[in-house]
Amino acid sequence: MKVILLGTAAGGGFPQWNCACALCARGRRGELPARSQECVAVSGDGRDWWLLNASPDIRTQLLAAPALTPGPGPRDTPVRGVLLTDAEVDHALGLAVLRGATGLTVYAAPPVRGALSAELPVRGLLDRYAPWDWRDATAPGGFAVAGGLNVTAHPVGTKAPKYAHAPDPDAPWVCAYRIEDPATGGALVYAPCLATWPDGFDDLLASATCALLDGTFFSAGELGTATSSAGAGQSLMGHLPVAGPGGSLAALARHRGLRRIYTHLNNTNPLLDPSSAAHAAVREAGVEVLPDGSELVL
Ligand code: MLT
Ligand code: MN
Ligand code: ZN
Repeated sequence: MKVILLGTAAGGGFPQWNCACALCARGRRGELPARSQECVAVSGDGRDWWLLNASPDIRTQLLAAPALTPGPGPRDTPVRGVLLTDAEVDHALGLAVLRGATGLTVYAAPPVRGALSAELPVRGLLDRYAPWDWRDATAPGGFAVAGGLNVTAHPVGTKAPKYAHAPDPDAPWVCAYRIEDPATGGALVYAPCLATWPDGFDDLLASATCALLDGTFFSAGELGTATSSAGAGQSLMGHLPVAGPGGSLAALARHRGLRRIYTHLNNTNPLLDPSSAAHAAVREAGVEVLPDGSELVL
């Protein structure tokens, strides 16, 4: 299985257009690598590609990835569809950018499909350009996708997008995917949105050879500190921090047998700076922070 990290930043990207924090200023001066909004492409055969989420940056992300070049027919594309982990704007808005592509399949959990039909109504919009196949990612037994990959979706959280009106607080708004290539035994766990370390998640990681995980915030309180906003100490918006006793890095110490990579980095996150103490701590724990465009073979 081939995996391309098309984008590795949280919503807004890095640098963020309206952010003057120290990190964004350094990013804007070219001192730190820019990152587009979080999105991944996977393929079992190198011909049929599936997007994991569809970021608003998808057009430039596809143009930057030679494997995703269209052809041989004038409107052929190797993109077969999209697997959504949630209905957040930074993960779903790219669907609208893909309008007009024929025959795409979108997998999502039921609350996500509902939100994309009602409050962020791209589903009806897209179907008027070209009919797509919208499927329940959480149907029992998982599903196989073109190119020879087997997929299961795992509910990992109930955080609804901010735009949702009166969302069901107990619904499975957020899921992780386990994507396996039976030909190689490689298995990717993709979980860019984790509000907590969910029950059963240790078992899921134990079944994988690589994990691509929520690294939005390095520490609790980072959001207030970096932007000096009035909201210092505000919640981490549904993302478990990397550091600290309850953070994801401590949990990942239990999983040294697989490749572990942080993604969805917020523009306040010191992991954006390869020379930071935060980056050194993550590296020493054997966990990776990779640039946009990185390719993995599993
Ligand atoms: C998130 O990851 O929590 C959301 O994308 C936040 C947002 O709306 O930008
Ligand atoms: Mn996000
Ligand atoms: Zn910033």
